[in-house]
Amino acid sequence: MGRMTRRFPEGFVWGSATAALQIEGAAHEDGRGDSIWDVFCREHPERIFEGATPEVACDHYHRYLEDVELMRRFGHNGYRLSLSWPRLFPNGDAAANPKGFDFYDRLFDALAAAGVAPNVTLYHWDLPQALGARGGWEDPDTVERFADYAEACFRRFGDRVSLWATLNEPSWSTLHGYLTGIHPPGRTEPRAAVLASWHLLKAHARAARIGHEVVPGSRIGIALNLSPIHPATDSDADRKAATIADGILNRWFLEPVLLGRLPEDTVALYESCGILPSMGASDLEGGLVDFLGVNYYFPNHASADAGETAFALNNSGRKEDASAFALAGLFRFVRNPKGRYTDWAWEIDPAGLEQLIVRVHGLRPGLPVYVTENGIGLQDRVVDGEVQDDARILFVREHLEAVGRALDQGANVRGYYMWALVDNFSWVNGFKKRYGFFHVDHATQARTPKKSASWFRDVALANGLTDNRAT
Ligand code: BG6
Repeated sequence: MGRMTRRFPEGFVWGSATAALQIEGAAHEDGRGDSIWDVFCREHPERIFEGATPEVACDHYHRYLEDVELMRRFGHNGYRLSLSWPRLFPNGDAAANPKGFDFYDRLFDALAAAGVAPNVTLYHWDLPQALGARGGWEDPDTVERFADYAEACFRRFGDRVSLWATLNEPSWSTLHGYLTGIHPPGRTEPRAAVLASWHLLKAHARAARIGHEVVPGSRIGIALNLSPIHPATDSDADRKAATIADGILNRWFLEPVLLGRLPEDTVALYESCGILPSMGASDLEGGLVDFLGVNYYFPNHASADAGETAFALNNSGRKEDASAFALAGLFRFVRNPKGRYTDWAWEIDPAGLEQLIVRVHGLRPGLPVYVTENGIGLQDRVVDGEVQDDARILFVREHLEAVGRALDQGANVRGYYMWALVDNFSWVNGFKKRYGFFHVDHATQARTPKKSASWFRDVALANGLTDNRAT
């Protein structure tokens, strides 16, 4: 086994993560309605790598028992998943779909039997199309519909789920849905982005209040995509650009859920642009989280040299395809000349995870933190029945070491969910970008454990890292 180099706290959760739309498939089965993503993929195949769709995804709806068995065999004691809102409420209104609820009953029972504790996200981007058509997250009524949906889930599943996240990555979904237009609904309007993000923050607070009422003792959090934002140089202008970007991308979401308030500088910025939504004094009430879910992939480097607004996402995995994120007059993200990058141009920087967790600990000392997503997209292949994904083992090891350093500084990290359980529908990247512990052949749906799955099983069972590097 090797000598233990890092022991994790007792009860640490070892698992992986998925989202309903990315794995379930069965898009038209048992009464499920369309989500905005189903429709976007059908209507805009040119925006998705190779025109992929989530219709079948990993067929998890039919293969969930096999998938739960994989978790059990490979030492997972936790699993982060999301519920499909359009499977439970196909039209986004009050009419529930009993077969949808039955599916999650079966799934939660299987997880319990396997000794795997669920960490459940209510909203991972699959808004019912019926609500999307009425204005989506720009429409205040969507907040009401979300509150009803959340209440139904708390009531039905609250006896088997004790960890809930209201939303997955409201920053990423509003920015790409309403500002860059790369995700549905494909809007490119700063006012719409700020309004949608505000409604998401309200929806989070509403759901958290309801959950605490309906299931006393439940622990309710949120999963935020956080990214340390470094100034590209030491200049004052770049430092200012980094602070602005940090306000828009991180603090606008982080401060309400950790501190119950919005960041003043970002409020002032939106006000000066005339895009600050009208806000009620009690809108954020009840939204303080019991735990924070940190989704971390890469850091950013901000330059003040931002003449034009520009957005591009490398969704091909070809190294030469550039990414861009610039807001004219505010900031532009630039490549780190010293950085290590994935094929999809995401920088690999484990220290960023340590910095983020320590930052959260500084804002809310001792708050339980779960790493709710962290992983690397690779072009994994099965060769002679095996997948040698040493790059993933290295990535996860380095990030777990970073978690260890955050623990040394007093942070209360309770678990780590690798993204992802299985190779899945990677949004605009289609199926080429593979993240799983388990390789999925999308023609046959065969699952093949990768080398990383066995490595992670040993880490989970030892509850720590050893000097047996396996790579
Ligand atoms: C997060 C999402 O943004 O990153 C996941 O919560 C997603 O759903 C993951 O799959 C990786 O991103 P991508 O675009 O490479 O699939």
